[in-house]
Amino acid sequence: MKVLVVGSGGREHALLWALKKSPILTGLYVAPGRAAVRNLGVLVNINIKNPIDVTRFCKRENIKLVIIGPEQPIIDGLANNLVAEGINVFAPSQAAAKLEASKSFTKMLCKQYGIPTAKYECFIDEGLAKNFILSNKIKFPLVVKANGIAAGKGVIICNRESEAFVAIDSMLVEKKFGESGEEIVIEEFLVGEEISFFVLVDGLKVVTLGCAKDYKRADESNDSQNTGGMGSYSSPSIISKDMEQKIIQRIIYPTIQALANMGTPYRGVLFAGLMICKNDPKLLEYNVRFGDPEIQSILPRFDKNCDLLKLMLSVAEGKLSSKIVELTNKTIICVVVASKGYPGNYQTGEVIKGLDEIESIPGILVFHAGTKLDKSGNWISDGGRVLNVVGEGSTLEEAKNKVYSALNFLRWPGGFFRYDIGS
Ligand code: AMP
Ligand code: GLY
Repeated sequence: MKVLVVGSGGREHALLWALKKSPILTGLYVAPGRAAVRNLGVLVNINIKNPIDVTRFCKRENIKLVIIGPEQPIIDGLANNLVAEGINVFAPSQAAAKLEASKSFTKMLCKQYGIPTAKYECFIDEGLAKNFILSNKIKFPLVVKANGIAAGKGVIICNRESEAFVAIDSMLVEKKFGESGEEIVIEEFLVGEEISFFVLVDGLKVVTLGCAKDYKRADESNDSQNTGGMGSYSSPSIISKDMEQKIIQRIIYPTIQALANMGTPYRGVLFAGLMICKNDPKLLEYNVRFGDPEIQSILPRFDKNCDLLKLMLSVAEGKLSSKIVELTNKTIICVVVASKGYPGNYQTGEVIKGLDEIESIPGILVFHAGTKLDKSGNWISDGGRVLNVVGEGSTLEEAKNKVYSALNFLRWPGGFFRYDIGS
């Protein structure tokens, strides 16, 4: 079976690495991809923003399944275009992708179906939003969020009235978040343990994929900037079976049922950002794709008999039959190496050395999130998040030692990473 993966980050590199193992795979293509994945899939030069180009390519090459990695093409409705042409897609429709595209939609759904989440109110009017703050119905700290997607920047935690007013003005008056900030959600600040939880959904049936911890801050301090994720780990002990059941019963099932009832069933991976508050899970947000860098630490835990491609195809065809995805008991840690300055301004075009040594270490994988090759065959930095160095162990300590020892071989003065992933 021929497969096309859409995307070019570390998440897509990890997906290609896992798909390549499938015995039913006959051809693997990636658009746009990067030089680092050229040995896993054929790089395809098509415009992924143009559904006609993507469809034409799939028909010409007889692609049987398209897997869409990033949120933007999903939210733009690429799956709808492909499905209309009879091509199987692992990604939800544009309507179902509202779970990520619109926080107010998801909050409304939570209210309607009794899904536990932070107390909230939505606004399009600055005055009403400020009056709500003054009414004290939600105590400080509270959270002001842009309704749409904002590359992880549209969430502002406010400790006092003045901060909340600045956040409201930045979204509703100054329009700093463009269309994404034309509506805002003001919600209660939840205290607890945050996890990223993943399920595969084929319309109605749900299979748990597992969970991971994401390290969102740029450095080890609690007040540094939020990023797309500076590292992750996955291990069997993050949550109990009992907690997993609570999440499925209270949060995932009602959501999937609601979308099916609306006539827009969900197909693909559903990523729930959750806060576990005193043993009760609450929904922070949904994403309609795999987490990056979370999936880089989940995929290496797949049991060798577990075929990612078969699972994804059964999701796309609405024929999910397995009850669980078999994961090993290993602990996997993924450390993101980023360009100094990220998530703000950073340099690109710097030579990165040491990757051959790192990759030759048993139990270590390197996924590329933002590199290219120069004419002399050197790896060059080409983005904010640049590398994912992934290490395994039978315990968190072991996995940490493995990954950080491997990182000693990295020779790139312009790069940085956090030293506390897995702590
Ligand atoms: P989001 O983009 O919605 O995932 O928000 C980014 C981060 O802000 C989350 O991963 C949380 O760490 C934090 N956050 C968002 N909403 C809340 C909330 N209601 N309470 C506490 N932290 C939150
Ligand atoms: N690491 C968080 C995300 O993928 O949204």
